[in-house]
Parts: sequence; structure tokens; C-alpha cells
Amino acid sequence: MTTVHEPEATLVLIKPDGVRRNLIGEVLARIERKGYKVTGLKMVVADRALLEEHYEEHVDRPFFGALCDFMASGPTVAVRVEGNRVIEGFRSLAGETNPTTARPGTIRGDFGRDWGTAAVENIVHGSDSTLSAERELRIWFGGGDDAPESEA
Ligand code: RTP
Ligand code: MG
Repeated sequence: MTTVHEPEATLVLIKPDGVRRNLIGEVLARIERKGYKVTGLKMVVADRALLEEHYEEHVDRPFFGALCDFMASGPTVAVRVEGNRVIEGFRSLAGETNPTTARPGTIRGDFGRDWGTAAVENIVHGSDSTLSAERELRIWFGGGDDAPESEA
């Protein structure tokens, strides 16, 4: 049986550590070389309210405060990326959360390491489900008329 996957969109963030280390082009190049389409792009210094909403699932975790401080420590590049199975595909490009053990060949494995910080600095974020992708795209890009158009 053939399974057809509808095109979907995900939210990728190039976190403040990725921006500080001049990895914006590297991350975008990997997304584009993989064949996915960038359909929205902006640089923002995230405020506390936005970060608390984005990371609401982690509110009770001991690293929550440090995570929000890290994410507010400089500009983040928010990227809307489209493609079939892009949510899973970008998570695979990113590699596992812990950059020490993330596989070489992945973004986190190639460019991340443990810096001894309270919040793990791992260069990128990628939505982990259809539901979180829709929620996170709304948070970072809005759901109104200024939201990016879908790929034609
Ligand atoms: P992300 O949401 O950023 O794509 O990362 P993820 O799914 O791989 O990891 P998640 O469990 O959702 O955690 C969100 C981010 O919080 C930081 N973190 N710090 N100190 C710690 O133990 C710890 N654990 C997670 C990381 O920046 C992680 O990406
Ligand atoms: Mg996550």
C-alpha cells in the first residue's frame, strides 16, 4: 500500500548560541540542501512572555528559568520550513537534544558541545509534532494576515 504524506510546515529556531556562532547560513543551507523550502524567516530578540508560551510544557522543569534566560540572551532566527514529513525530517537533521552525544553529521552533533551552562545550548529547535508545529508557528509568526503563505 502506498502512503501519501501531505506537505506540512514546522518551526525551526536558530537559537541565540547558533546566531552568536555565525551558524545561520550553515543551518539554512542544510535545510535547503535536504530539499525543504524556507517559507518564512525573521530575526527576533524573544521576550519573556513569548518564551514562556513557547516552552510552556517545560514550566515545571528545574532548567526552565535558565532556558528562558538563555533564549532571551540575544537574537533568535525563526524559520518556517515546508515539506513532506518535514517535522520529523528536521528533527533528524538537528540530532538529539544533548549535543555531547548527538551524532556527528547532525547540526547538534557537528556544532554543539557542553559549555557547562544550566540550560543545554544546542543551536536549533524544531517542532516535535503537527500540533506543536501549528501552535509554535502561530506564536512566532502569528496566525493573521501577516503569516507567511504556504508553498504554492
Ligand atoms: P527543542 O524543543 O529546543 O527543539 O529541543 P528538544 O525537543 O530536543 O528538547 P526539549 O526536551 O524540548 O528541551 C527544550 C530545550 O531545553 C534545553 N534543555 N536543557 N538542562 C537541561 O537538562 C536541559 N534539558 C533541555 C535545551 O536547549 C532543549 O533543546
Ligand atoms: Mg522540544
